[in-house]
Amino acid sequence: MSSIEIRARNFGPGPLRGTITVPGDKSISHRALIAGAAAPSPVAITNLNPGRDVRATMEALIALGAHVEGDATALSIGASRLREPMGTLDCMNSGSTARMMLGVCAGADVRADFDGDDSLRRRPMEPVAAQLRAFGAKIETTEGKLPMRIGGTPQVETRRFILITPSAQVKSALLLAGLFSKTPLAVLADKGSRDHTERLLKYLGADIRWDGSTIELRGGLTKAEPIAVCGDFSSAAFFIVAATVAPESDLTIAGVGVNPTRTGLLDALLAMGAQIELRNPREISGEPVADIHVRHAQLRGTAIGPDVALRAIDEIPVLAVAAAFAHGETRITGVRELRTKESDRVAAIERLLRAVTIEVEVAANGLVICGGTPRGAGALVETHDDHRIAMATATLAAGAGPLQIDSDASIDVSFPTFLETLGSVQRA
Ligand code: S3P
Repeated sequence: MSSIEIRARNFGPGPLRGTITVPGDKSISHRALIAGAAAPSPVAITNLNPGRDVRATMEALIALGAHVEGDATALSIGASRLREPMGTLDCMNSGSTARMMLGVCAGADVRADFDGDDSLRRRPMEPVAAQLRAFGAKIETTEGKLPMRIGGTPQVETRRFILITPSAQVKSALLLAGLFSKTPLAVLADKGSRDHTERLLKYLGADIRWDGSTIELRGGLTKAEPIAVCGDFSSAAFFIVAATVAPESDLTIAGVGVNPTRTGLLDALLAMGAQIELRNPREISGEPVADIHVRHAQLRGTAIGPDVALRAIDEIPVLAVAAAFAHGETRITGVRELRTKESDRVAAIERLLRAVTIEVEVAANGLVICGGTPRGAGALVETHDDHRIAMATATLAAGAGPLQIDSDASIDVSFPTFLETLGSVQRA
């Protein structure tokens, strides 16, 4: 497994002014690569996310026989037939790779061993394994986690699935199993999780219908249209919140995906009084995109329910940062899943906000944040190798004053140019 350099990093206060772009969407990038391997001829992809997670998916696909030409962010990918890989598929830190590629292998009836780094080895694989076993795949996990092995899919069994967890990764794994085996299938009881797989398969000519709760897919892809990946809303989120909480900020983030299944953070911030405007709305490769304009605003506390939390699942740490600056209490419910992300993010939010003297109460499925005047004062924040906690700390420092993280090594999982981008718009 790869060894990563550890560098402590200081962040400070100051307004964010100007215009930036953020890397291509990580979720869509995984799916674009996988869809390229299922398309009738090679697919050209531009603005692919340059982070380590997406590289893990690309390397897994290559190990399974896909051909890739180009560089890290602009390439073409195709495959005739997927085959058993020579070695273990190393999913590194990427839950999306482990879960979605398991669905690919189930659909392609391929045997493979899966593993990942220490953090990924702690994350649950049983929900996806259980649903793919019902599809007919032979899967063994290590007490529900990695390492795991798939021994192919001797025979397709279930074709109608009720999602047992509100996870877009599990939903996508099932859809990809249907796609690669060309088995018509239906997935029921989705709770409105991100629909990038559905949109991309439709864009590439699949017979797919969905209504926010049931998805029906029949057969494979019929087109190999080029895919332009939009800017990652989850990366933009740090800048949206930083510009909101740092006085005198006025920032535009251009070309960001604003798929409503991802923008719960915007709904929450607008309810809290944020000054955010979506400009120049357009559609790129089947996804809604806009330029996001943000000005500093004083926020007030609000209640954020499970529907919004699901559409902001990766943004809860940075939403908690916004709540720290709001007048009054912010209650967030429906965040149980956060305990099993790249780190225990409920515990991480508690540590982060306590470091700036903000009170947080943790309940079984939620958080209560008593907003006020967070004060940085140079406190050291442990990131537990979680990229979103590292970047949420920089966001907090933009409004609260100096903070330090133990290591910035995790950031390149999703946003390798984060520090440069921040440096280009933050005034000291
Ligand atoms: C993702 C779905 C979410 C999210 C993850 C990416 C995806 O995970 O947290 O970062 O690309 O489908 P779950 O589906 O497990 O909630």
